[in-house]
Amino acid sequence: MSRALAHEDVIIRCGRRSGLPLIVAVHSRALGPAVGGCRLRRYDTWQHALADALRLSEAMTYKAAVAGLGFGGGKSVIALDHDTVLTPQLRKSALEDLGELIASFQGSYRTGPDVGTGPEDMVVLRRFSPYAYCAPEEHGGTGDSGGPTATGVLAALRAGARHVFGDASCTGRTVVISGFGSVGSGIAAGLATEGARVVVSDVEASRKEAALASGYGWVEPDRALSAPADILVPAAVGGVLDDVTVPQITARLVVGPANNQLTEERVADVLAERGIVWVPDYVAGAGGIVYTLSRESANHSHEAAQKRVEGIGDTVTRILDLALSTGTTPLRTARRIAERRLASSASQAQAV
Ligand SMILES: NC(=O)c1ccc[n+]([C@@H]2O[C@H](COP(=O)([O-])OP(=O)(O)OC[C@H]3O[C@@H](n4cnc5c(N)ncnc54)[C@H](O)[C@@H]3O)[C@@H](O)[C@H]2O)c1
Repeated sequence: MSRALAHEDVIIRCGRRSGLPLIVAVHSRALGPAVGGCRLRRYDTWQHALADALRLSEAMTYKAAVAGLGFGGGKSVIALDHDTVLTPQLRKSALEDLGELIASFQGSYRTGPDVGTGPEDMVVLRRFSPYAYCAPEEHGGTGDSGGPTATGVLAALRAGARHVFGDASCTGRTVVISGFGSVGSGIAAGLATEGARVVVSDVEASRKEAALASGYGWVEPDRALSAPADILVPAAVGGVLDDVTVPQITARLVVGPANNQLTEERVADVLAERGIVWVPDYVAGAGGIVYTLSRESANHSHEAAQKRVEGIGDTVTRILDLALSTGTTPLRTARRIAERRLASSASQAQAV
């Protein structure tokens, strides 16, 4: 056997209504119940879906630990092949299958939207248990987490700007945002308000009109990473930072919500060697989960939850200062902070 299973639970089931492969992976509950979104997408095989669930649930453990949450890491996946047509009925059946599976965890695994699912899908899951967050407000949830995620990225970005440029203000700075979706558009609006020169990019050509109408600049997606910028914000997809793209980056600060931005962990060293400060994605992108759990699990007010999200700025300052003083990368520093918390056992887990 090559390596011990790092996960506490991995359940693979063929949905009895949908016939689709369902996976729930719980990486760790050392700090509390596992939490992580529900992904519904196409994979070459269900084994690829399993690999995705294992990787993503582990990342959730680190995300929650660095954010100071009393939660562990998990993920669920509904795997579609390339031929199956996802009719509304099949979608409903698959969500019902997953709802039943999540209910069997009795709260020790909790979910929310992820790639391919949204707030409305959480309404279906909630028919089986209360452990599906971000349902629309009229169904008792807090809805799409894109806004709080953008707030958290802005806090991380300001902390990063203070570290790199000696000034948290982005007034007059050029910020390129790759991905003008739910989170990217929130970041753009926040930066434009404070006088930054915002340039956005998206593979959806229709987003260009919206960007120009808002007064932003536009760059085609294949040039977004190399476009002249002080700050680069990856807000689209993962796997964008590698040996080919990093040498093309002109920005001195890279900070954004896109999950798994690095193709490999060692790319963090390549960024550091080029003098680029990269804020780990799972630190910068934690605003949504921090807000949602504060509101829906700990019953905090909007204001208190928002304050907690803005605390991501302090976390980023701590990570960047520590990385500088110890001569290592922000990625290794963030990982050490998470590992120290995890090692200090569940008894010290702080409730959100
Ligand atoms: N929504 C959240 O609360 C949240 C939380 C944490 C992390 N994230 C991550 O942040 C990223 C953005 O999330 P979102 O909710 O805004 O998603 P979204 O789907 O609303 O927006 C993503 C946008 O990126 C565009 N895009 C896709 N590929 C692209 C490419 N190669 N170049 C440029 N644009 C491209 C899409 O057309 C879309 O407009 C994702 O990686 C997501 O996993 C989101």
